[in-house]
Amino acid sequence: MLDAGLDGRTVLITGSAQGLGAALVRACHAEGAHVAALDIDDETNRALANDLDLTGEWIRPVQADLRDPDALAAAYAEVRDWRPVDVLINNAARPLARSLWEITPEEWDDVFAVNLRAVFLLTRAVAADMRDRGFGRIVNVASIAGQTPRPTGAAYGTSKAGMIALTRVFAAELAPYGVTVNAVAPAMIDTAMVRSIGPEALAELTSQVPMGRIATPEEVARVVLFLASRETFVTGATYDVNGGALMR
Ligand SMILES: NC(=O)c1ccc[n+]([C@@H]2O[C@H](COP(=O)([O-])OP(=O)(O)OC[C@H]3O[C@@H](n4cnc5c(N)ncnc54)[C@H](O)[C@@H]3O)[C@@H](O)[C@H]2O)c1
Repeated sequence: MLDAGLDGRTVLITGSAQGLGAALVRACHAEGAHVAALDIDDETNRALANDLDLTGEWIRPVQADLRDPDALAAAYAEVRDWRPVDVLINNAARPLARSLWEITPEEWDDVFAVNLRAVFLLTRAVAADMRDRGFGRIVNVASIAGQTPRPTGAAYGTSKAGMIALTRVFAAELAPYGVTVNAVAPAMIDTAMVRSIGPEALAELTSQVPMGRIATPEEVARVVLFLASRETFVTGATYDVNGGALMR
């Protein structure tokens, strides 16, 4: 795939059970990394882990609801008891398409709890250990929705814009310790969520992409792994993976 120097390293991936997260688990496993796979959906997450690694030596499924700070802390304690984390990929997210008039305060808080507060809390916990060890790679999965406005995207888009800002601030704070923090901003990725909008809506959205198609999860995973590379001089960056849908 891409030699990111992950051989023997340990990668913690959130939202690992399906979609891009599952593609990231596969890609890191193929690179020879140990993978701590964290998801709220224990059954699907375990099935993926068993499918790839019957020995249980390489992939450790961990169940947690990232909205719950105590559960998040307990999950990270479990991971760090297993192996020290070299790479953190904040991928889990809660999508929400709701007009400005419909969105409830509870929905707003729920989106921010997963998409931003959990990223802050988990990154801080993991980065403290990375700082002590003098090495770390953190990659945040943001979205084009955080870069350019879309109707019905008030909560989701704003949380992803916050993630891009947080990426830069953490990058500045952690650079002296050998820890890089970067983000990717995909447009549409070919996952179950996107397919569920139906062929006509998908064709309409695809027609707005200069490359004329949506991304495969593997294409996005490759950019994430590049940003997680052992040797890198990139930090605080947001890499667009959007087929030209937004050029800046
Ligand atoms: N699919 C797209 O078109 C697209 C486009 C741009 C950005 N993204 C971003 O890519 C990332 C992955 O997207 P996807 O389409 O694979 O998503 P998905 O919905 O298919 O998977 C998300 C995973 O996160 C887990 N999760 C959700 N809430 C959680 C919680 N509270 N605690 C623990 N786990 C939780 C889910 O169980 C699921 O396995 C997200 O950050 C998303 O915002 C996706």
